[in-house]
Amino acid sequence: MSNSAVFPPSREFVRNAHVQGMDAYLDLYHRAEQDPEKFWADIASQEIYWFEKWSKVLDWQPPFSKWFVGGKTNVSYNCVDRHCLTHRKNKVAILWEGEPGDQRFITYQELLRLVSRFASVLQSRGYKAGDRAVIYMPMVPELPIAMLACARLGIAHSVVFGGFSGEALKARIQDLGAAIVITADGGFRRGKKVKLKPAVDEALVDCPDVRDVIVYRRTCSEIAMKEGRDHWWHVLDEGASEDCPAVPLDSEHPLYVLYTSGTTGKPKGILHSTGGYLTQTTATMKWVFDLHDSDTYWCSADIGWVTGHSYIVYGPLSAGATTVMYEGALDYPNFDRWWRIIEKYRVNIFYTSPTAIRSLIRQGEHWPDAHDLSSLRLLGSVGEPINPAAWEWYHRVIGKGRCPIVDTWWQTETGSIMIAPMPGAVPLKPGSGTLPMPGIIADIVDLKGIPVGDDHEGFLIIRKPWPSMIRTIWGDPDRYHEQYWGKLPGIYFTGDAARRDADGYYWVLGRVDDVMNVSGHRLSTMEVESALVHHPAVAEAAVVGKPHEITGQAVCCFVTLKKGEWDHEALGKELRQWVAHEIGNFARPEEIRFSDALPKTRSGKIMRRLLREIVTSNTVSGDVTTLEDLSVVTKLAAQHDED
Ligand code: WTA
Repeated sequence: MSNSAVFPPSREFVRNAHVQGMDAYLDLYHRAEQDPEKFWADIASQEIYWFEKWSKVLDWQPPFSKWFVGGKTNVSYNCVDRHCLTHRKNKVAILWEGEPGDQRFITYQELLRLVSRFASVLQSRGYKAGDRAVIYMPMVPELPIAMLACARLGIAHSVVFGGFSGEALKARIQDLGAAIVITADGGFRRGKKVKLKPAVDEALVDCPDVRDVIVYRRTCSEIAMKEGRDHWWHVLDEGASEDCPAVPLDSEHPLYVLYTSGTTGKPKGILHSTGGYLTQTTATMKWVFDLHDSDTYWCSADIGWVTGHSYIVYGPLSAGATTVMYEGALDYPNFDRWWRIIEKYRVNIFYTSPTAIRSLIRQGEHWPDAHDLSSLRLLGSVGEPINPAAWEWYHRVIGKGRCPIVDTWWQTETGSIMIAPMPGAVPLKPGSGTLPMPGIIADIVDLKGIPVGDDHEGFLIIRKPWPSMIRTIWGDPDRYHEQYWGKLPGIYFTGDAARRDADGYYWVLGRVDDVMNVSGHRLSTMEVESALVHHPAVAEAAVVGKPHEITGQAVCCFVTLKKGEWDHEALGKELRQWVAHEIGNFARPEEIRFSDALPKTRSGKIMRRLLREIVTSNTVSGDVTTLEDLSVVTKLAAQHDED
């Protein structure tokens, strides 16, 4: 689709939207630009309940920001308690479907009961504000309940995606210094029971500071329970008090740490705090998803990623939505599982990833066509650029040409959506996140920080602090400074390449660093490399992202081996399994290529650019003058031709 295809919102959509028409968007944008502190203060007052008002809106000591300084609030109170005082008391808060087909409809009042009970359990075991908990669970309601119970008491949580291995879990528990792990026996995936608890047991061998493990029973699988350390959720819940008020917390109190891949082998713990995060996730729910009280809203992400934190749990619940949660795989028992769910619950707003869309396109239109999708009024996309073919299919086959698609650009670090259309205001261009949210001053610059012209590629940056921004990297403020604010002093460096067209629309192209985007999940090349070199057969490894039709990118590894006789085929399999064990299944390499040497600069740096070129185009062009040994590259390219 050309850049010129434009889809303005329908008159009907505009009539019911929170933000109606371009002028309304521009008015918000300009108000925020002229006086950001007043703008955000107004939103924080309107959207959030505060036990005590702040004394200062923003304290900005680059690169460290504090929002709503001195204010006291509580995320759990805002997501649960306050709705129980309104007409939402008996509204469904979490509408859950398990993979086997079991259902739970948890109203706000019931959610309050469940969250309070679990918070009492935590409190009675001595946990309090300032402590840290790791949550490693399948997609069951007890996952957001555990998050909200932690938030209620001021315990910072770190949710670790259930697809991560015991090794990855261990690194996160240790880095965070968590004293408690909340987990489950397992979950259901493609009709099978997948165990989680054994990975916790594996991780905890090296985590002496963990005092308690609370295990939710989901699958009734056989698992080991360690006397004194491990406790069943349902047993602790039995005597739990339902009176456990939300603790008034400082606006800057840590809410959660979410680990994400950076450009080194060590994941970064992205820290988000309370008041600013809640303000902006709540505001963007209304702006971008045009959320109304009667809507049934479904984000298909896993809560283990930031999308699930901000747009399954905190944003929707704070905004009083009915948020749908589905436990299992999109293709179980058939490729129409998602469309069944939309039909069954009359879902109005649906938010997913381009990878999921591409994998469903492949299965054919008869799957969605067999279902009544007429309840849908808005579609969303996140995690990676959406290609024109996927956009067109999503729009035509799922949205029946009626539903706007909000393409939302943001990051774990930004906490909430940064660039996206307000669907009742901004005309869409397929593949573009369109325009920045109010209060977000974005630009595209060159390496010196000088803005590039229209339609020129450059680095996407953000000029001013925003309420839901990352506060620091847990335990490593220097890395925070250097990674995000050090490349161009005083400017937030996103790590993405983008261009802006003459209408001011942003087109995000992808990462400029050594971060891959596999199925919309961030994965660092270095993380996979360091996993590989731990294997006794591997001498050296270099990893690059290879373009992939469905997952956007796939992990491709170049490996040199230590001296010896190796069966390449068997070893290739073993190494793929090895990476899955070290990091998680989702990181399993698509391809392992063995080579006698890797292309390096004279200073010994592996030339990933060349490897990327090899996996992308099978040819090598461009500047190779710093290459130590050109023949290595030629060899690798030739080897690929033989595949
Ligand atoms: C990419 C996910 C293009 C981008 C919320 C970013 C996107 C990284 C889009 C963050 C989009 C996310 N269009 N690219 N709409 N959304 N990205 O931290 O490269 O898992 O930097 O947060 O995903 O990934 P993360």
